[in-house]
Amino acid sequence: MPIKPHFGVNERGHLTIGGRDAVEMAERFGTPLYVVDEQRIRENYRRFYGAFAQRWHSVMVCYAYKANSNLAICKILQSEGAGAEVSSGCELQIASRVGVPGQRIIFNGNNKSAAELEAAVANDVLINVDSVQELLSVRRTASRLGRRARVGFRVNPDVKTPTHSYIATGLRESKFGLDAASGQALEAYRMASDMEELEVVGIHCHIGSQILDAAPFEEEAEKLMALVAQLKEELDVDISLVDLGGGLGIPYKPDEKELPPEQLASRIVPIIERAVEEHHLIRPALAFEPGRYIVADAGVLLVRVGYCKARPGMPGWVAVDAGMNALIRPALYGAYHHIEVANKVGMEPRELVNIAGPLCESGDFLGKERRLPPVEAGDLIAVFDVGAYGLAMSSQHTAQPRPAMVLVNSGKAEIVRLREGYDDITRLDRMPEWLK
Ligand SMILES: Cc1ncc(COP(=O)(O)O)c(C=O)c1O
Repeated sequence: MPIKPHFGVNERGHLTIGGRDAVEMAERFGTPLYVVDEQRIRENYRRFYGAFAQRWHSVMVCYAYKANSNLAICKILQSEGAGAEVSSGCELQIASRVGVPGQRIIFNGNNKSAAELEAAVANDVLINVDSVQELLSVRRTASRLGRRARVGFRVNPDVKTPTHSYIATGLRESKFGLDAASGQALEAYRMASDMEELEVVGIHCHIGSQILDAAPFEEEAEKLMALVAQLKEELDVDISLVDLGGGLGIPYKPDEKELPPEQLASRIVPIIERAVEEHHLIRPALAFEPGRYIVADAGVLLVRVGYCKARPGMPGWVAVDAGMNALIRPALYGAYHHIEVANKVGMEPRELVNIAGPLCESGDFLGKERRLPPVEAGDLIAVFDVGAYGLAMSSQHTAQPRPAMVLVNSGKAEIVRLREGYDDITRLDRMPEWLK
C-alpha cells in the first residue's frame, strides 16, 4: 500500500494521521480540510539538519516560509532551532513573531521594497541582494538607519535542473541573481566590499525546487565555491556563509525514489571541504533553505465527494468540494499527488477515475486516471503530500472560502488556521458611493 509510514489505517479501514482518524476529523472540522502532522515536520527537520551537521562544523537550516507560513508551523520549526528563509515583509514579520532572531533570518527575493529592506536592516537580517540597484538601495537604507547591513549576493550559476520549468531557478535565463560566468557577480562583490555601510557575509544560490538528483546540487556547490575562491584571490573578501538554497524534493509518486539528505550531504560537503583546502579559505558556515522537504509529506488534504459521474469507455468523474482553489499544483505544474479514499483504505482499487474540484475550469482537477476502490457520494478523499505549497498557494477562485488547517500530534488535534467564511471573501471589498 503506497501510504507513507507516518500515516496509518485503523480497524475501520480509515486513514489515520498523527494518531487521529481522518474521517472523524473531517466530521468534526468540516471539509475541505488540511491536516498537518507535527511529529513528521520535526522528524524531517532533524533528519535534514543532522545529515549536514554530522559532516560540517557549522550548519544553519533556514526553513523556507513560502512553503507554508502558518504561524504554528513556523513556531514548530523555530522550537527545533531552525532559522527562517523569508521572501516578503510579512514572512519576515512572521519569523520575528514566532521568535526567530534576525541573525537567523535570510531575506531573498528579486524585488524587495524599501519598507521590506528597512525592516531587514533594522532587525539584522541577512539580505541576499539580487541586483546592483538593490545593493544601492540597501546601502541607502543602512545609512539612513545608521546601521551596517549584513549582505550576500544571489548568484546565478547557470545550472540545469530536472524539474518543472516554472520552479527551475538557476538557469542563466532565470530572473534571479547575478551572473557568475560573465563576472557580473564578482563586480557586485567588488562594489559591496568598498561600502562601509555593508558587511559582506555570504553567497547565495537556489537552483530550483523538487530536485531528486544530487548532480545539480554538486554543480551548484562547485560553481559557488569557485566564486568564493575568486572573491578571496581577487578582492581579499572572506565569505563566512555559503547558502546553497533549498530545492530537495520528495517522492510524490509511489514509484519515485527519495534523494536522502544524508546522500546529498555526503556529495556536497566534500566539495566545500576541497575548495576550502585548495584555496586556503576560511571554513564558512553552510546555510540551507529547505521548504518542501520539511513540510510537504506532513500534510494531507481531506475533501468530500459530492457526485460521481460514470462515462462510457472513459474514466468517470468524481467531484469533490475543493480543487485548484485549495491545491493548485496539479493545475499549475501538472503535479502528481497521491490520492486514496480515506474511509476505504485497503479496499481493492477497481475503478479508474478522475478527481475534479467544483470550479468552472477544466484545469480544476486533483488527479487524473487514478485507480481507487468504488467511490460513492459522501466518501472522503485524501490527497497526500500537500503540506508545502498547498494552502500557501490557495485562492478564493469562484469565491470559495479557503480551507481550515488542523495540526495533529500524538492523538491531539487543534485548528491552526480557521476556515474562511463568506464574509471573509467580501471583507475587503468596498462599494463606491455612486453604486450605493
Ligand atoms: C530562494 C529560495 N529558497 C528556498 C526555496 C524553497 O525551496 P524548496 O521548497 O524546494 O526547498 C525557494 C523556493 O522557491 C526559493 O525560491
